[in-house]
Amino acid sequence: MPEIRSNTLISAVLISLLYLTRPALALKSWYTEPGGVPAGSTAGDKVRGVNLGGWFILENWMMPSFFEEDAVKDHYITDEWTYCSVLGEDGCLTRLEKHWDSYITEDDFKRFANYSLNTVRIPMGYWSWTDPEEYIQGQLPYLERALNWSSWYGLDVMVDLHGLPGGQNGQDNQGYKGPIEFQANSTNLDRAMDALANMTKFVTQDKFDGVVKSIELTNEPYILEYNPNGMDFYVLADYYVKGYQVVRANEHIIEGANEVMVVIHDAFQPPSNWQYFWNEPTLGQNWTNYALDTHIYDAFGGADQKSYQEHLDTICGWSAELQEAQKHFPVIIGEFALGTNTYCVDYQSCFGLTLDQVISNITSSYEANLFMRQFWEVQQNVYELGAGWIFWSVHHELAGPWSWTQSAAQNWIPEDPTEKVWPFNPNATSSCLDLSNPIQGDQNMPYFPSYANPYTNIDISTVTRKNFAEVRGSNSTATTNSTSTSTSTSGSGGNATDTSTNSSAVASQSGGTASNGARTKFVPSLGLDFGFCAGAGVFGSSSSLVAAAMIGFMLSALI
Ligand SMILES: *[C@@H]1O[C@H](CO)[C@@H](O)[C@H](O)[C@H]1NC(C)=O
Ligand SMILES: *[C@@H]1O[C@H](CO)[C@@H](O)[C@H](O)[C@H]1NC(C)=O
Ligand SMILES: *[C@@H]1O[C@H](CO)[C@@H](O)[C@H](O)[C@H]1NC(C)=O
Ligand SMILES: *[C@@H]1O[C@H](CO)[C@@H](O)[C@H](O)[C@H]1NC(C)=O
Ligand SMILES: *[C@@H]1O[C@H](CO)[C@@H](O)[C@H](O)[C@H]1NC(C)=O
Ligand SMILES: *[C@@H]1O[C@H](CO)[C@@H](O)[C@H](O)[C@H]1NC(C)=O
Ligand SMILES: *[C@@H]1O[C@H](CO)[C@@H](O)[C@H](O)[C@H]1NC(C)=O
Ligand SMILES: *[C@@H]1O[C@H](CO)[C@@H](O)[C@H](O)[C@H]1NC(C)=O
Ligand SMILES: *[C@@H]1O[C@H](CO)[C@@H](O)[C@H](O)[C@H]1NC(C)=O
Ligand SMILES: *[C@@H]1O[C@H](CO)[C@@H](O)[C@H](O)[C@H]1NC(C)=O
Ligand SMILES: *[C@@H]1O[C@H](CO)[C@@H](O)[C@H](O)[C@H]1NC(C)=O
Repeated sequence: MPEIRSNTLISAVLISLLYLTRPALALKSWYTEPGGVPAGSTAGDKVRGVNLGGWFILENWMMPSFFEEDAVKDHYITDEWTYCSVLGEDGCLTRLEKHWDSYITEDDFKRFANYSLNTVRIPMGYWSWTDPEEYIQGQLPYLERALNWSSWYGLDVMVDLHGLPGGQNGQDNQGYKGPIEFQANSTNLDRAMDALANMTKFVTQDKFDGVVKSIELTNEPYILEYNPNGMDFYVLADYYVKGYQVVRANEHIIEGANEVMVVIHDAFQPPSNWQYFWNEPTLGQNWTNYALDTHIYDAFGGADQKSYQEHLDTICGWSAELQEAQKHFPVIIGEFALGTNTYCVDYQSCFGLTLDQVISNITSSYEANLFMRQFWEVQQNVYELGAGWIFWSVHHELAGPWSWTQSAAQNWIPEDPTEKVWPFNPNATSSCLDLSNPIQGDQNMPYFPSYANPYTNIDISTVTRKNFAEVRGSNSTATTNSTSTSTSTSGSGGNATDTSTNSSAVASQSGGTASNGARTKFVPSLGLDFGFCAGAGVFGSSSSLVAAAMIGFMLSALI
């Protein structure tokens, strides 16, 4: 294995020498020089953010009251598609506009700023950007408002095409709970490209001052190695390759800024396996400024049976894999939460309860509160071994550990996200947070409110709007290395080059056995396995990774 790893490094160096860069007048934030040390967000900081989940794509588990209104409650609606089918266009638009207007407000951004976050991730469906079919459009003025708020409060934005035409994972989070049909009809790929092109053009307009630093091509796609109903890996890879070209062809780079970072989701494969993708000439080898998104949850598949220590150790178990992958490309943990069970996530389990009752169930015990803080702190530490983290999600009506706002109000998440109560050892596969040895001593443990707190103790009175230059402190000297051959990867008007992957041929060679839920290898045995082997080594030695992957799978089944 050591030889293989050093080969990988040598290849990475060689490949980086071959990179052709676009002119990069640069902010440091959200920019990784080809072959350079992966960056996080602002000025090389780590990505520290929150998802605006449930806003432009409804998810009933986060906002049950919305689905319990008289007009819809008898339909037991599971997703946005059905919501609009049941209500009809006008009824749906009226309700959704109210939701778009009220679910996310300027005060949310003030709270993010007060808690020193630097990023919001905004999930959106394809229907906001191209023919909406049964869905409803009208999101863009609200998106625009959020981009402005982000700019004013010093946050960077990742916009994510969370739901693809036909659907990439079959879950409510793609807009429609049902089959996975993205791969079933080639018009879906074309429509996805239209959506991506339109989205890219819109969010990179001058008026947004470059606040959108990254575009994610899609969320949690299922491939065959992960789920028998998923798509062939090469269907996904083809989408990623073409999607990258469409983003590059349609982005507008404002003066003094970088090209946007293109983010792809790991499809529940071990992050370091994606070296394969970025080492392949027909796949991602020519990409510049890109990152991998991985989602880590420890709440499903029997996680509720774990002890506090086992939850913490599950997160410790990710350190090695994230550090390995981060050597090669930025790895952003684009979703995680403090939830350790499905209590109130399966929202009917909390039917009739109030936020006060649900939160009191946790806040009644100091030990439980303290665990929440520990679970936060271990995740913050481990995920910053990668490029950083983005909490899922900003609000949840009942389940406090899934709500950033509630978790902040309860002081499970500290105002300073880097605040450390316990020492952290990045090399330890268990007990990586040393609970026996608090940095400030046992007498200085955090204080937790002993009541359900509807955000009121987040004081935003001192948070003020900032102007663009002040926030971003643009640094045009940072990466002015323009070997400037911008023709290399920016495709021709959205017309993606054929990557000539013969999916049927490759599928039959595919080495991964479809073991539902586990992070198996997806790389076919083509003898190009230098990247993959390193990942397999890590994978093989880490059973907690498998456990975590199982959990990821279970989560996807719910969210
Ligand atoms: C957050 O608000 C508190 C209370 O107003 C204030 O003391 C603190 O400085 C604020 N922090 C930031 C980063 O704005
Ligand atoms: C593309 O986006 C623009 C707004 O930038 C919108 O006017 C147009 O309708 C969109 N196209 C489709 C097909 O939705
Ligand atoms: C966002 O800010 C831009 C630039 O200041 C402005 O043109 C636009 O009207 C604003 N949009 C909204 C919805 O506030
Ligand atoms: C693909 O989708 C289009 C548009 O929905 C439809 O007209 C066409 O019949 C579909 N083709 C197949 C093979 O399902
Ligand atoms: C990457 O660049 C190489 C060399 O220019 C070229 O042969 C290859 O086709 C490119 N790959 C893609 C997917 O564009
Ligand atoms: C408290 O939470 C647990 C899950 O952690 C749940 O099983 C239990 O029913 C809850 N109790 C009350 C009174 O809500
Ligand atoms: C972790 O391991 C690396 C490499 O073995 C070593 O350099 C580093 O000092 C270790 N860190 C801690 C905190 O033990
Ligand atoms: C700008 O970039 C240069 C070169 O990387 C660095 O030395 C300098 O500290 C940066 N300035 C600011 C304000 O970030
Ligand atoms: C720019 O490129 C030159 C030669 O390719 C290299 O030596 C130098 O380190 C690069 N500078 C930056 C800031 O990337
Ligand atoms: C896209 O490719 C097709 C087939 O290769 C070609 O006919 C068409 O003109 C191209 N479109 C653009 C915009 O380059
Ligand atoms: C793709 O691979 C299959 C199976 O090996 C083969 O039958 C087919 O001819 C190939 N198609 C192309 C276009 O190469």
